Amino acid sequence: MDIFIRANAQEVGETAAGVIAPFVKQGRTIGLATGSSPLTTYKELIRLYEDGDLSFRTIQAFLLDEYVGLSREDVNSYFKTIRNEFTAHVDFVDSNVHSPDSTDPDPYHAAALYEEKISASGVAIQLLGVGVNGHIGFNEPTSALQGPTKVQALHPQTIKDNARFFNSLEEVPTHAMTQGLGTITRAENIVLVATGMAKADAIWGIVEGPLTAMCPGSVLQLHPNVTIVVDEAAASRLEHADYYRTMEQLKLR
Ligand code: F6R
Repeated sequence: MDIFIRANAQEVGETAAGVIAPFVKQGRTIGLATGSSPLTTYKELIRLYEDGDLSFRTIQAFLLDEYVGLSREDVNSYFKTIRNEFTAHVDFVDSNVHSPDSTDPDPYHAAALYEEKISASGVAIQLLGVGVNGHIGFNEPTSALQGPTKVQALHPQTIKDNARFFNSLEEVPTHAMTQGLGTITRAENIVLVATGMAKADAIWGIVEGPLTAMCPGSVLQLHPNVTIVVDEAAASRLEHADYYRTMEQLKLR
């Protein structure tokens, strides 16, 4: 695991975009996350596109998750959010952006289909955020560490955290479809971004805590190609932060 500690959210985004860009240049498939954490990463990828350094025209992308019951056009759907925040600002082809079919009357069927689609394609690099409770994708605590794409009832904390995007707590969907921890960790490379004090416990759990389904992100400890990019606040509970800084300086490639 590489742990890169940066001064602020903008630098986190620049570093994470720098990890992703070479895969885009090679035309590889990428995995996208929604939420506030990746926004500076998307901003930097958009800048690289505008500067003519990157093109997404032939890139396939898979979203991590989607709320059950929200259509792709719903302003709070993750498909729409990704389009508004990222893919519409670059030359992504809409039909190359894949997400679980949240309008399928049988979400379990839709989850199984999505799992098949990802398995057939593979993902070269997956971008992740992390929830306050350590979730990645919408894999809440107790999720199977090797599980497939699934339907997940959302933790009350997650519903509270995400209520800021809706008019009221009651409007937040109670269920989502999410790539499972097994699906996510089949990506060849993973880059996780986190900023702010609220994420400090989750980052500790992922980097220094025990491997446990109670902190789903800790499954990344088993993956050979993981980069964690955090600001000082999110890194503030790490006991070995100086060691990580030294290791970054010593890194050969
Ligand atoms: C989003 C996702 C979630 C978020 C997490 C953090 O696609 O899968 O795991 O990354 O809930 O959300 P933010 O970044 O809004 O704090």
